[in-house]
Amino acid sequence: MRKKIVAGNWKMNLDYNEGLSLFSEMINMINDEVTGKQEAVICSPFIHLHSLAQLAKGYPKVSLGAQNAHQAESGAYTGEISAKMIKSVGAEYVILGHSERRQYFGEGNELLAKKTDTVLSNGLKPIFCIGETLEEREANKHFEIIKSQLEEGVFHLDEEQFGNLVIAYEPVWAIGTGKTASAAQAQEIHAFIRIEIAAKYNQELANSTTILYGGSCNPKNAPELFAQPDIDGGLIGGASLKSRDFLDIVKVFN
Ligand code: G3P
Repeated sequence: MRKKIVAGNWKMNLDYNEGLSLFSEMINMINDEVTGKQEAVICSPFIHLHSLAQLAKGYPKVSLGAQNAHQAESGAYTGEISAKMIKSVGAEYVILGHSERRQYFGEGNELLAKKTDTVLSNGLKPIFCIGETLEEREANKHFEIIKSQLEEGVFHLDEEQFGNLVIAYEPVWAIGTGKTASAAQAQEIHAFIRIEIAAKYNQELANSTTILYGGSCNPKNAPELFAQPDIDGGLIGGASLKSRDFLDIVKVFN
């Protein structure tokens, strides 16, 4: 049985006190309302991670993640944060390859492959994001794009390393737009991703890989999306900034 995960991506939102207040509210709601059949993850800006990790102690149903990590172990990279630093403050996951980092910061598959290696070698779990743009989908290139992002980003990993990965399919045209992919559209790509993993590695690893959907997921559409056989949860943006909405999405797996 593969892990069900609902991860909130706060993106560049919430100052120190706002983050502390929202997380404090969320962990108590999760503790009271969530069965534990799923894992709730909060991927906050770096400034929050240490204090949230301290708060999360004693709340086993909640994990923390970062939204990026540099590919180097350490060094003269002003302004950057290393995987070792992220690990040291108590985070377990790192989002890599988010479309906003690909678009605004020019992160390509080759760099992301290096980031993935460093994150894994520091005992963290990458949430590796893939997804096509509207233009690519309209040109019917979405399968080709997804395949290349897998092949160039993570298919260099051995079986053991790949087993520590979470994949997130985020159609770029659905992120922050309110235009969610239909359950059928999302399931089609998730099934394709699983087939590609099986072909590269083996069916067992494909069956055990958690594949999340991201892109305007909310309490209304989450039940139908998460009911799909190859959708194992969500990577949630806007809705993760509202406790009740995020909880209602997490609770779909109760
Ligand atoms: O990483 C998740 C995010 O890109 C989705 O954002 O606001 O469409 O849920 P949103």
